[in-house]
Amino acid sequence: MTSNPASIPTASYDAGAQFLHWSMAALITLAFVLGLTIDAFPSGWKAGAIEAHKAIGLALILLLATRLTWRLTHRPPPLEPAPRLMTAAAHLGHAALYGLMLLAPVIGLVYAIKRGQGLDLGLFSIPPFAAPAPRAETRPIREWHEWAAYALMLLAGVHALAALWHHLIRKDGTLRRMLPR
Ligand code: HEM
Ligand code: HEM
Repeated sequence: MTSNPASIPTASYDAGAQFLHWSMAALITLAFVLGLTIDAFPSGWKAGAIEAHKAIGLALILLLATRLTWRLTHRPPPLEPAPRLMTAAAHLGHAALYGLMLLAPVIGLVYAIKRGQGLDLGLFSIPPFAAPAPRAETRPIREWHEWAAYALMLLAGVHALAALWHHLIRKDGTLRRMLPR
C-alpha cells in the first residue's frame, strides 16, 4: 500500500482532541521534570514544588478522564494506509500510552495519600485523608510511581520519534492529523 503524500489532505483529529493531546504532553513532561528535580529546589521552594507537582498530576487525571470520554464517544480519523503490522504497533502503542497516563498519576496519588499528604495551593487546599503510613510501606509505592513515570516518558519518546519518522522520512500525513489545519 502507498502512503498519503504531503499534497493530499489527511483527515485530522478535531480541535478538542488536539488540545487534549498537546496540553497533556506538555503537562506530563512538566510533571516528570518537576518530580525528578524536586530535591534540587532550595528548601524554601521545595514544599511549593511538590504541591505544584501534585496539582499538575491531579489536573492530568481530570484531563485523561475527559480524553477517554472523547475517545469512547468519537471515532478517531482513519490511520494512514500502512502495513498491518505497523497499524497494529500504533494501536498497541497508543493503548499502552493511555494505560501509563493513568497508572503513573494514580500511583502518585496513592503514594501522597499513604504519606498522609493533602494538597495545599494557598488559596485552595484539600486536607490529608489518612495518617502517614510507615516509610517502609510507602517506599515501594514511590518506586512504582517513579518507574511508571519513566516508562511513560520512554514510550512517549518512542512515539514522538515515530511521528517524526512518519513526517520526515515516510512523508505521510500522520503528524498533520494531530496539527491544526
Ligand atoms: C503523569 C503524572 C506524573 C508524573 C510523570 C510524575 C512523575 C514523578 C517523578 C519522576 C517523581 C520522582 C520520583 C522519585 O524521586 O522517587 C515523582 C515524585 C512524586 N510524585 Fe509524581 N508524577 C505524576 C503525578 C503525580 C500525582 C498525581 C501525585 C499526587 C497527587 C504525585 C505525587 C508525587 C509525590 C508526593 C512525589 C515525591 C516528591 C518528593 O517528596 O520528593 N505525582 N513524580
Ligand atoms: C507525553 C507525551 C505524549 C503522549 C502521552 C502522547 C499520547 C498519544 C496518544 C495516546 C495518541 C493516540 C490518540 C488516539 O487515537 O486516541 C497519540 C496520537 C498522536 N501523537 Fe502523541 N503523545 C505524546 C507526545 C507526542 C509528540 C511529542 C508528538 C509529535 C512529535 C506526537 C504525535 C502524535 C501524532 C501524530 C498522533 C496521531 C497518530 C495517529 O493517530 O496516527 N505525540 N499520542
